[in-house]
Amino acid sequence: MKIRRASMKDMKTLLDLYDELLELEIAKYDPTLIPKWSYTKHGIKYFTEMINGSYTSVAEVDDKVVGYLAGKINEKNDYELYQYGEIDNICVTKECRGQGIGTALIKDFMGYCKENGIEDFKVVACAKDRDAINFYHKLGFGDFDVTLTINPKVKTLTED
Ligand SMILES: CC(C)(COP(=O)(O)OP(=O)(O)OC[C@H]1O[C@@H](n2cnc3c(N)ncnc32)[C@H](O)[C@@H]1OP(=O)(O)O)[C@@H](O)C(=O)NCCC(=O)NCCS
Repeated sequence: MKIRRASMKDMKTLLDLYDELLELEIAKYDPTLIPKWSYTKHGIKYFTEMINGSYTSVAEVDDKVVGYLAGKINEKNDYELYQYGEIDNICVTKECRGQGIGTALIKDFMGYCKENGIEDFKVVACAKDRDAINFYHKLGFGDFDVTLTINPKVKTLTED
């Protein structure tokens, strides 16, 4: 398996992998998200910016892209003391999960951040997505913010 920076040539694969992630999120966690968003002009613009201005990497097995991570170092601002590396989204295609590819993508992103003097990291996950949360816990992330919602279209953890 090889991890490399994504280029514009990877656009179609990135849109497909994001769509795989979105379908899973809509089906299992958040039906308020808009299906097929990645293929819209906004989705394409988002990935263009993530490839050219932020950090997007892909994992290849036998020259085929099987996963990606889109992340960024947040802009310096006047209300936070430290910058941090934020994972925007990550997906490994279903057939290739559980083989260490997601871990390799995260470690690669962390390496990039550390080379740029960034030691802090952040990712947002749906509270109901225990699989993703367990994955991040194994990588050393701890729970921090809690988002509370009144939204009749979704079920929250406290309703279970
Ligand atoms: C989450 C995801 C990126 C992890 O990538 P992966 O290549 O499957 O992860 P790894 O093989 O590196 O797994 C690392 C550890 O996390 C655990 N883990 C990963 N996915 C898991 C899952 N779905 N359920 C339970 N544990 C999981 C593994 O057991 C593994 O632990 P181990 O090394 O002790 O066996 C991948 O499963 C995926 O794309 N899921 C769908 C999209 C998604 O949830 N994205 C994140 C949204 S916030």
